[in-house]
Amino acid sequence: MSDEPYEFAVDAFRREGLLEPAETGTGPAHDGTGRVDLSFSPSGRTVRVPQGVTLFDAASWNGIAIDSTCGGHGTCKKCKIQVVDGTVPVSRLDVRAFSADQLKDGWRLACLAHATQDLGVDVPPLTTRPKAATVGVGRQVILRPAVQKRYVELDEPTLADQRPDLQRLYDAIDDLELRADLHALRRLPTVLRQADYKITAVIVDEDLIDVEPGDTSEQRYAIAFDLGTTTVVATLLDLATGTPVAVQSMLNKQQPFGGDVITRISATMMDPDALGRLRLLAQETLAELAVGVCAEGEVDAALVYEVALAGNATMTALVLGIDPEPLGVAPFVMSTAAPTDVRAADLGLSLHPGARASLFPALGAYVGGDIVSGMLATGMDRDKRVRLFIDVGTNCEIVLSDGDRILSTAAPAGPAFEGGAIRCGMRAADGAIEVIKLGEDVVLQVIGEVEPQGLCGSGLVDGVAELVRVGLLDHSGRFVSDEIAKEVAPALADRLTYVGEERVFVLHRPRGVTEAAESVYLSQRDVRELQFAKAAISTGWTLLLDELEVDPRDVQQVLLAGSFGSYLSPASAIRIGLVPKLPVLRIVSAGNVAGEGAKMALLSLRERAGAAALLEEVRYVELSDRADFNDKFVDQLAFPG
Ligand code: FES
Repeated sequence: MSDEPYEFAVDAFRREGLLEPAETGTGPAHDGTGRVDLSFSPSGRTVRVPQGVTLFDAASWNGIAIDSTCGGHGTCKKCKIQVVDGTVPVSRLDVRAFSADQLKDGWRLACLAHATQDLGVDVPPLTTRPKAATVGVGRQVILRPAVQKRYVELDEPTLADQRPDLQRLYDAIDDLELRADLHALRRLPTVLRQADYKITAVIVDEDLIDVEPGDTSEQRYAIAFDLGTTTVVATLLDLATGTPVAVQSMLNKQQPFGGDVITRISATMMDPDALGRLRLLAQETLAELAVGVCAEGEVDAALVYEVALAGNATMTALVLGIDPEPLGVAPFVMSTAAPTDVRAADLGLSLHPGARASLFPALGAYVGGDIVSGMLATGMDRDKRVRLFIDVGTNCEIVLSDGDRILSTAAPAGPAFEGGAIRCGMRAADGAIEVIKLGEDVVLQVIGEVEPQGLCGSGLVDGVAELVRVGLLDHSGRFVSDEIAKEVAPALADRLTYVGEERVFVLHRPRGVTEAAESVYLSQRDVRELQFAKAAISTGWTLLLDELEVDPRDVQQVLLAGSFGSYLSPASAIRIGLVPKLPVLRIVSAGNVAGEGAKMALLSLRERAGAAALLEEVRYVELSDRADFNDKFVDQLAFPG
């Protein structure tokens, strides 16, 4: 369709400064840094997302369903939302989808609306009963869950028809080879007779797990878990519509055993009781979240018939009570790549008594089910572009696809990104500096709008990138001398000082504080920690690019994933060399892809089979035994020029 009938409106909106300057769908006109708060109604949820993310992505990452049949690609015009607080420029497609009055009232297509400021957004109820759901990074999945409900009306037995109850049911559902759980068998005679032989069979895969009186076929739920080392996220899904009902997250209760997988594995090696305690703590975390999402969604836990769990290999072993020691020592071997026949009760969950658990398979000891889940969510195996997937964390997982072949590896980045080993480091919580800009002076963005207390990983990356940009850090990562500092940035030079013998840059000095040691600062050692972390990661992707003989400039998309990676400023990630030097719009925040993959596995058996197929398709590259690793690592330490 031509744009012409709308050109007058396009011009009018452009004159009012309301039309997005870029072409429809080509991205926002901002520098990709900073965070914005989005308040969604009627759910009442407020979420904090990287600036520039579309409202469609922000909603879907946070379990808020918006109508769509195109998966957020700007073609279906179904993703209508109303911006009720703040403004979003009008895109060219908005002009076709809405009247002038609607546009003035803030109506926009969510997949083309980039959040560049805090916004209030009203999401209308879904208008169509979906046959497909949008999950992952713009993925559409046809709804075909493992959980099925079949309503049947059976003939009553007679002296001439004395078939057993179960046979009577099997005969009515003859397209499946059913096997009945004992729980279902126990209930069958009573439920059949009380309900006049009108019952609903509850089936997971081909297991008959229950029978319910009457027609309950619309009531079926599942929970997707992203079992992270630090944070655990649960999403309650309505399997009849494919939509999320409630999302909750909390810190993994295993935290007291250490912040990373190695300390938790070590704990099990030193204390024979630790494995049992770690298993219980992981299970308590899942159970608390399950209770929370069911309460929030007002769903009876007994209607949850399946869970999917995506976790790294250590977390998966621990929650199942499997000894993780072989994962922590060379040659780094898993007990199994794909745990099978697990029930939700084995994970400590009180849901339907027959509820099944589907655990994501792992590629290796350090490329676990969470990454396989992320690959599924981002469609790494079905895109012809050259794409790089980086899950940034203490252990950084990297996947490279050239459209035909897929390689993966793991790079030990250390705790710098989580704020560990950094003098003023902290987790991304209230008081953490998350964005830093250097201009005339220092501009900080702080989580929770409270006084800065420390620096989280994204703030660290920003701070170092900005110091390199203005010339206060040289490319080897050393703070410049006072003389040079005064020449390159006189207003900022005063902040360069010492704590003890160490050179530091003061980011925030609380009122009344005179000592640099009591302020929030970035030290020379912090810069070195970050250099080591980013060199480990960039060595990882450099070696994968070498393996596939791909030039870094030919990478068409870099997906930054995970609870930390998704919040990194793409511009800063490029500046410090954490990702290849590419146009900033090729670097994309992918959100919680592990959780998204888990949702896909619950909504579609086909996608679940796709995850299993990845085990065959992806080649794991071990970095630690490569002769060229050390040389490449040293090459990657410096910041790019
Ligand atoms: Fe289809 Fe936005 S999701 S146009």
